[in-house]
Amino acid sequence: MPAAAIPTPWVHGHDAINPRAFKQAMRAVAGSVAILAAEHDEIGFCGITATAVCSFSAEPPSLLACVNRSSTFASAIREGVPFSVNLPAGDQENVARAFGGMTKAKGVARFSSGSWVRGGTGAPLLVGARAMFECRVAEIIVRASHMIVIGIVSGVALDRADRSPVFYAHGRFLTVGDEAN
Ligand SMILES: Cc1cc2nc3c(=O)[nH]c(=O)nc-3n(C[C@H](O)[C@H](O)[C@H](O)COP(=O)(O)O)c2cc1C
Repeated sequence: MPAAAIPTPWVHGHDAINPRAFKQAMRAVAGSVAILAAEHDEIGFCGITATAVCSFSAEPPSLLACVNRSSTFASAIREGVPFSVNLPAGDQENVARAFGGMTKAKGVARFSSGSWVRGGTGAPLLVGARAMFECRVAEIIVRASHMIVIGIVSGVALDRADRSPVFYAHGRFLTVGDEAN
């Protein structure tokens, strides 16, 4: 192996590095932004912005999301309510901010950002999102602070699929064509 200098600052630990260094490095990941939403009889409307969402399998169509167990949305999902995964367009950054806890809005107040309709499962869908997935909870795997939610996709819709996707990196929302500084 050629000798090369390790880039500095270099953080190394035997078992695990400290979470701060991990979070700092994870800021470099350009995560595709999704807005997850649900309605629960007692909890009401709830939702989060999430970048930890990806396709899981095509047969059956399913996706997974990593959800912090402390969120209101997690409490609803644990009860097995259906949920939606909405991929916002570039002009829906305000919705991503509200659902990401970057404004004071909580619970149903988050839904005053954007316009919402009810899907076939009853889950709220973000009108004008590039793509919307309606999911039924298939499995929840709890690990430390988070839970991995596997959702079977029972409905999809493309609304403004030609619009630019929204990413989050280095603490900023970006659309294609933007430059991360
Ligand atoms: C860009 C971005 C990405 C996020 N990704 C996730 C994620 O993948 N999983 C998660 O549980 N929370 C994620 N969050 C944090 C939640 O959106 C936030 O904690 C949420 O508002 C909590 O809801 P609550 O106030 O109802 O508890 C993300 C936030 C932002 C701004």
